[in-house]
Amino acid sequence: MVLPKHVAIIMDGNGRWAQSKGLPRVAGHQQGVLTVRGTVQECSKLGIEYLTLYAFSSENWSRPEGEVEALMGLLGQYLASELALLQEQQIRFHVIGDLSKLPTEIGQSLSHSMAVTSTNTGMTLTLALSYGSRNEILRGVQRLIADDKSGLVDASQLTEQQFSDYLDTAQLPDPDLLIRTSGEMRISNFLLWQLAYTELYFCSCYWPEFDASQLHAALEDYSRRCRRYGGVSSALSAKQHQNESLEEASH
Ligand code: FPP
Repeated sequence: MVLPKHVAIIMDGNGRWAQSKGLPRVAGHQQGVLTVRGTVQECSKLGIEYLTLYAFSSENWSRPEGEVEALMGLLGQYLASELALLQEQQIRFHVIGDLSKLPTEIGQSLSHSMAVTSTNTGMTLTLALSYGSRNEILRGVQRLIADDKSGLVDASQLTEQQFSDYLDTAQLPDPDLLIRTSGEMRISNFLLWQLAYTELYFCSCYWPEFDASQLHAALEDYSRRCRRYGGVSSALSAKQHQNESLEEASH
């Protein structure tokens, strides 16, 4: 099976999962953390090189204060409880987003987790936190303008690769596969630049229900996709070449 090198996931449906069970929304997020743990372990075990999870969007700040606090609390607990597991599985921890908006103690935990795992050699786990793709692009452009002014870069000659280096994802390859749970078919301001040629996979289960079998189904679907990046696939072009040769021979 052809495995994607980089899997990105929009983890959606915690609230609806909880509501469907008559539970408060926060219970959905708590269950969602367990799914995060299972997914990280399974991806690492399968040999996926990069896993990027959309954990908190820049728009999520507008949720009720209690829910934001609960999500930040869960994040803090997650960072504290998972570090040993990340170390054990040699997972490198990384974050993208506008981290200046996060509570100080969360910022410190994030820096600590990144520092401690920085020399690990296994999968790179990236959490998108206080992340919005338009905001990321804007922050990148602001840094680019500053570098252009100080002569570090010539913005008029900029290549796509150079611009990518101004994004939070500078150290990551573009995702090969994007999974979104809960049946919604939107990108929701996630990795807009980086998803240019990514294969999209939508599944109807809510995030707390997403398990190893759902992940495997997504990976199997991906392995059957034919990626052409705007060109023609090698199999297709070989077939065309064969047809053209046959046509020439018959003339
Ligand atoms: C979407 O569910 C999910 C989120 C807003 C955040 C995802 C958060 C977690 C999985 C838990 C915390 C994560 C970590 C890594 C500690 P929703 O609330 O939008 O669901 P709804 O669309 O059904 O309302």
